[in-house]
Amino acid sequence: MNYYDTNLIKYIDSSIVLHPLFDDWMLIVEEILLSDEFQKRKIFMHHHNMSVWDHSILVSFRSYEFARIAHADERICAIAGLLHDFYSQAWISTPEIEELENGKYATLMKEKKPFYKMHGFTHAKDASLNYVKYFPQLENKKITNSIKRHMFPLNIIPPRYKEGFIITLVDKFNSVHELPSLRIVPKMVINKASKLFIKKD
Ligand SMILES: [Fe+2]
Ligand SMILES: [Fe+2]
Repeated sequence: MNYYDTNLIKYIDSSIVLHPLFDDWMLIVEEILLSDEFQKRKIFMHHHNMSVWDHSILVSFRSYEFARIAHADERICAIAGLLHDFYSQAWISTPEIEELENGKYATLMKEKKPFYKMHGFTHAKDASLNYVKYFPQLENKKITNSIKRHMFPLNIIPPRYKEGFIITLVDKFNSVHELPSLRIVPKMVINKASKLFIKKD
């Protein structure tokens, strides 16, 4: 499967590409978007209808925009927004992810885990370590903290910096916005709970 393409504009929502701030934002994030590891996020699913690639770009761009209004650090928001869900393993199984590098990105989702080790509780810390592994030149305490704490209040420790609060808010807003309908939320919760608590023979 060919996920890699240097023509980035083909893979970014036109509402972002046509935005007056697009070129300034792209100057900050281009090296991440062009990396082989980040391009794999085109085939990681965030929800069933959206990839991690698309979700991360939206959170990055909207956080960058918000930072300009809130007098926060725009570069930190653009980078932390893009990498906030840069966890090391996929959490939704698809044929593409099962095939990618002989299933290297699909091993953890097959393990039985206690509730507190489910994706929602662990992926923020995982992403805060994984970004340093692939982009050591970008390591920065505000970026690390913003990624690690973006799941507040599910993860109870809040972000330490203004930029982290921006990422958390924009992420929550987008995650709700990306759902096809709020009516599917109870069904999603019941499905998740049944997988956790109903033992299969
Ligand atoms: Fe997340
Ligand atoms: Fe997210």
